[in-house]
Amino acid sequence: MTEHARFLLDLTRGRRAAHERQLAAWRRRDLDSQVDFSRPIAILDLANGRLRPQYTLLKRAGHRVVGVDLVNRPAHDLTAVAYRVARWLYARSFNGDVASSDDTLVCGNVTALPFREASFDLVTSVAAFEHFLDVPRVIDELHRVVRPGGRALILDTDWDSLVWHTSDRELNRRITAAWDDHLVHPHLPKVLARLMRAAGFTVTAQRVHVLFNTELTENSFSAFDMRAVAKYVPGHHDLTEADAAAWVADLQARSDAGEFFYSLNRYIVTATA
Ligand SMILES: C[S@@+](CC[C@H](N)C(=O)[O-])C[C@H]1O[C@@H](n2cnc3c(N)ncnc32)[C@H](O)[C@@H]1O
Repeated sequence: MTEHARFLLDLTRGRRAAHERQLAAWRRRDLDSQVDFSRPIAILDLANGRLRPQYTLLKRAGHRVVGVDLVNRPAHDLTAVAYRVARWLYARSFNGDVASSDDTLVCGNVTALPFREASFDLVTSVAAFEHFLDVPRVIDELHRVVRPGGRALILDTDWDSLVWHTSDRELNRRITAAWDDHLVHPHLPKVLARLMRAAGFTVTAQRVHVLFNTELTENSFSAFDMRAVAKYVPGHHDLTEADAAAWVADLQARSDAGEFFYSLNRYIVTATA
C-alpha cells in the first residue's frame, strides 16, 4: 500500500479525528476558563493546521474566526482528500452540522501576519509554536494584531516531559532524542512566558495538561505518538527501521503485560495585551 493510501485509510477510519475529539473537551475548558464568551468575538487561530480543530470549535460556537497557516491553500492531492474526510468526521462529532466552514482561512506566514493592528479580541495557537523559526517575531506579531486588553492563549509541549516505559532504556533514549529533532523548539514552554512578557504581554496564567495513558489502545494519545515517532526516527541519529520496530514491539509487550505507561505534558500560557 502506498504511503498516501495508508494515510487516507487511517484518517477515514477516524483515528486522527477520534484523537482530536478527546482534546476538544480540553480546548473548550481552557478557553472557557480564560475568556468571556458571553458575546461573539473576533479570534485569530494561529497555525490552524490541516484538521483545523480550534478554528472549527470556535467558529461553531458563533465567533468570527480567522485561521492563518501555510497549509491554507487549494490542494487536490490524496492527502488533501484525506484531510477533507477527517475534517468532516471531526466537525460531525460536534453537532451533526457538517457544512463547510473554511471561508476565513488565510494562507500566510505567521512571521508577517496579513492583518491590521488590533484586529482581534483573542489569538489562540495550539501545538504550533514549537515549529516556528523566529518565535520572538511571531509573538511581536501577535501583540500587534490583538487589541489592547485582548488575550492570547498559547499551548505547546515540552518534550523533556515525555515518559515511555520500555525495557530497552538506551534505545528509548536514542529514539526520543531523534524525535526532538522533528521540531525547531522541543522545549519552548519553559521560556514562553518570558518571551510573552518581553513582547509587552502581561502573563495571566500558566497551566499544564498531562496526557497520561496506562493502556496502548488504538485511539489513545500514546498510540498516535508511537506511530508518528516510529515513522519519523529511521534515518535519524543512526536509527534504523529495525530499531523503530523493536521499540514499537517493546511498547506493545509492556501493554500486553499490563504495565504500559506513557505521560506527556502540554503547557498553556494565557496573556493580556
Ligand atoms: C501541529 S500543526 C498545528 C496544529 C493545530 N493548531 C491544532 O490545534 O491541531 C502545526 C502547524 O503550523 C504550521 N506552520 C508552521 N510554521 C508556520 C509558519 N511559519 N507560518 C504559518 N504556519 C506555519 C504548519 O503548516 C502546521 O499546520
